[in-house]
Formats: sequence, structure tokens, C-alpha cells
Amino acid sequence: SFEVVLQSSGVIYQIPAERSIVQVLEAAGVDVPVSCEQGICGTCLTRVLSGEPDHRDMFMTDEEHAANDQMTLCCSRSRSARLVLDL
Ligand code: FES
Repeated sequence: SFEVVLQSSGVIYQIPAERSIVQVLEAAGVDVPVSCEQGICGTCLTRVLSGEPDHRDMFMTDEEHAANDQMTLCCSRSRSARLVLDL
């Protein structure tokens, strides 16, 4: 598991292995725009302010993945213990 922090609220969410970031945020009442929920469309693309995403999408290019400054919240995860998101 890993933690996600929302920049605007400072609230920390634990993301367990069996749930996506979108699932955890939506259950907590945080609306994230989603469409495909399979890493294809890019609707859930969100800026990453710190931490290293574990990219699982097919939407971004290799260069965009390597930049680690945005991620798809429907399917991607984290290599670092904590991600800070621009939400
Ligand atoms: Fe389509 Fe996340 S909802 S990539």
C-alpha cells in the first residue's frame, strides 16, 4: 500500500493493494473525472507534485512516464511511499 496526499486539503489517503486511487478517493467523496478506468483515455490524468508514480496506463508516452509529473489515477500506483497530487 501507499499514501496519497491531496495538495488542496492536506488529507492523506491510504491506498491498499486491492483498490485503485480513484476507488479510494471516490469512496471518501472526492470526485475524480474518469471514463475508461483502464488507462486508455487519459480522462483521469492528474498532476503529481511529489513522489514517484508506478505508471500502468497506455495513454502517456514513455517520455511522459519518465517525467513523473502526471499520472492516471484509475490504474497507476506508486513506487514511493507517498504521492502528493495536485487535487
Ligand atoms: Fe481513462 Fe483513467 S479513466 S485513463
